[in-house]
Amino acid sequence: MPLLIKNGEIVTASERYQADIWCEGETITRIASDIEAPAGAEIIDATGKFVFPGFIDPHTHIYLPFMGTYAKDTYETGSKAALIGGTTTLFDMCCPSRKESAAEGFATWKAQAEGKSACDYSFHMGVTRFDENAAAQLREIVAAGISSFKIFLAYKGAFGIDDVELYQTLKLAKELGVVVTAHCENETLVDERQKELLAAGLTGPEQHYESRPPMVEAEGVHHLTTFAEALGTEIYIVHLSCREALEKAVAARLRGVKVSVETLIQYLLLSNEDTKRPDFEGSKYVMSPPLRNASNQDVLWSALQSGLVQTVATDHAPFDFARQKPMGATDFTKIPNGIPALEDRVNLLYTYGVTTGRIDLQTFVNVASTQAAKIFGLFPRKGTIQPGADADLVVFDPAWRGEIRAATQTMNVDYSAFEGWPLKGRPSVVTVRGEVAVRDGKFVGTVGRGRLLARPTRR
Ligand code: URP
Ligand code: ZN
Ligand code: ZN
Repeated sequence: MPLLIKNGEIVTASERYQADIWCEGETITRIASDIEAPAGAEIIDATGKFVFPGFIDPHTHIYLPFMGTYAKDTYETGSKAALIGGTTTLFDMCCPSRKESAAEGFATWKAQAEGKSACDYSFHMGVTRFDENAAAQLREIVAAGISSFKIFLAYKGAFGIDDVELYQTLKLAKELGVVVTAHCENETLVDERQKELLAAGLTGPEQHYESRPPMVEAEGVHHLTTFAEALGTEIYIVHLSCREALEKAVAARLRGVKVSVETLIQYLLLSNEDTKRPDFEGSKYVMSPPLRNASNQDVLWSALQSGLVQTVATDHAPFDFARQKPMGATDFTKIPNGIPALEDRVNLLYTYGVTTGRIDLQTFVNVASTQAAKIFGLFPRKGTIQPGADADLVVFDPAWRGEIRAATQTMNVDYSAFEGWPLKGRPSVVTVRGEVAVRDGKFVGTVGRGRLLARPTRR
């Protein structure tokens, strides 16, 4: 059914104006004032509301075998949660184990998502081992429309790659015109510090931070950017958490390295104080890189506003507090790493970024949608509102008031790191390629309608 969104204020990364939006099939076909509604069209009244392009989360782990367990969401629960929170496209990290081939990993992640996702999605293809066989398979995966890789400089013995593999991966990516996304922490420093802390009897969740201080991340960023500089490869630093790491990324950019930076809603709003909560509650806040000293939050907010940081993601990695986090009850190195946030990213960024004046409305759209579309080859099909773009739209009610409660969330995990946090505003209607998927906080879309998006390389 054609869709007409009337009387809203359209906000993109570059514009803000009052107009109606006409969508036919899966696409926006017309934007003008006072569009007449033909019979049979579905009309959405957006009076007093913003109309944003569908938001994009460039870094999630819906499916993730990790640290002896599995992230809790399925593509059904994860995509519903994403949509309720205004995210219409997500990028999941396809992370094969070192024992699996790239092709096996890609097939597994595709099978997890196909027929189950309600929102559109793509993958960053994890390169967790590099050899001749992997290279041949990666070429095929890129040809199938996956134009970004994911590498880990951390997680020794699991996803982490060594420097020869790093070099070869960046070289292949440069040849293919592929962006390499990277988890930047020096794995040797992490490993040695973990051993020392445990040997000293320091085993609680708050030790996670001590094992991975800012210098560990800064070294990772410097390491990656040096290799990328040598090879001319385009890179994207995932989940950057602190000033020290940002300084290394900015220094690389000044040297001409093509580097984009992602931070997370968690780093903007939470701190390492949270990992000190009593009764093992600190484990809810264990992720890597760790939550930092709160002084880093101002640095990251102003880096977003000034364009030094391009995107805000979630790194959504849900592990239950009741059964999974306690795997590390007597050893912090065994606490499954991750803090869920897929459902709340957009609302938190709006409430604590826009309404507080830390970022303006256009920057909000830019960092939560447009930049991810541009960096990863989806723009202007996604990430903006214009004729010809997919009709992925978020009618956002800034007058809505509520708070975050794990008991009512759609994410399949038993806690929220933002329990009780007040929200000012939320999506009242969300559309995916012309179909209404969310109304007043409830999922009304179609499970399995989400598509794997083929993305071009830079070639
Ligand atoms: O703690 C985190 N970030 N968990 C998910 C895996 C990763 O490193 O992105
Ligand atoms: Zn990571
Ligand atoms: Zn991640």
